[in-house]
Amino acid sequence: MNTIAQFTAPIIIGHRGASGYRPEHTLAAYELAIDLGADYIEPDLVITKDGVLIARHENEISETTDIAQHPEFAQRQTTKIIDGESKTGWFTEDFTLSELKTLRAKERIPQVRSQNTNYDGLFTIPTLQEIINLAQTKSIAVGRTIGIYPETKHPTYFQSIGLPLEDTLLATLQANGYQGANAPIFIQSFEVSNLKYLATKTDLPLVQLLNNTGKPYDFIVNNVDCSYADLTTKSGLQEIAEYAQAIGVHKNMIVPIDSNKKLHFPTSLVTDAHAASLLVHAWTFRNEDFFLPLDFQGNPQKEYELFFSLGVDGVFSDFPDTANLVKLESSNLK
Ligand code: G3P
Ligand code: CA
Repeated sequence: MNTIAQFTAPIIIGHRGASGYRPEHTLAAYELAIDLGADYIEPDLVITKDGVLIARHENEISETTDIAQHPEFAQRQTTKIIDGESKTGWFTEDFTLSELKTLRAKERIPQVRSQNTNYDGLFTIPTLQEIINLAQTKSIAVGRTIGIYPETKHPTYFQSIGLPLEDTLLATLQANGYQGANAPIFIQSFEVSNLKYLATKTDLPLVQLLNNTGKPYDFIVNNVDCSYADLTTKSGLQEIAEYAQAIGVHKNMIVPIDSNKKLHFPTSLVTDAHAASLLVHAWTFRNEDFFLPLDFQGNPQKEYELFFSLGVDGVFSDFPDTANLVKLESSNLK
């Protein structure tokens, strides 16, 4: 297997695939991300009743699939508390993989991405194994290594119902040749304890995700008095560096933005993280004005230019072509 050394920074991470152009978390979205220049493709992972890792942002799947149109599953609609929030719908852990494969994906935000609804009903929910197969096959086809960047979703919840993600993830990765600190993979989590567990089991690169509000859900469950903001202090970053190789941060933690979508002076987070020997990957970059700061309306390239100039080591993007274009232009200027 090729190694991480093949990538030039900043890496472009296809966020849920090229989800600006196709319904997220589908093989079509991942393949397009690769064709548009992504270095890594990002599956968020949940699990099925029969223990198979699949790509969805949530275990409740009514927003991104046609399950509500399947009368044979109507009786399985239910309400659960997931990470402290009440959710009503259909949950992956209540279905086998073969049942979930009868569903078709749909666009999550049709009000913003109406063009993507042309692809509603075409694609199935992919397994992690299918995503790995795609990355490895496409690596050969396009002549460059395509990394994967899986995220464990709701790890404490899945542990609580006897379907933990971590060991299944590691077994799948090992079976597919991902080994050692330089393998073309990053494993990410918004929680801390499952990353610490993974660090005892693998040398594969780990990423502590940091949100711009709140605290890790496992810290809430275990009454740990530490917020995401606390983890961004110099001592917090040093603690992260004990078990992870990178942080994956909400971009507003690098360049704050106010309620009028006006950008403010950058924080020292990139510098501080680098001082702690942590890579910094920022999320999420999107082309639409709906998501862009006031300063960059109509010009998403400017946002990448700003973050690249601040030294981020990677960006999660729904539009890998835009990210890659700016990366190429930036490298030509050097
Ligand atoms: O995983 C980092 C990035 O994807 C942001 O989180 O999963 O809510 O989109 P998510
Ligand atoms: Ca994610």
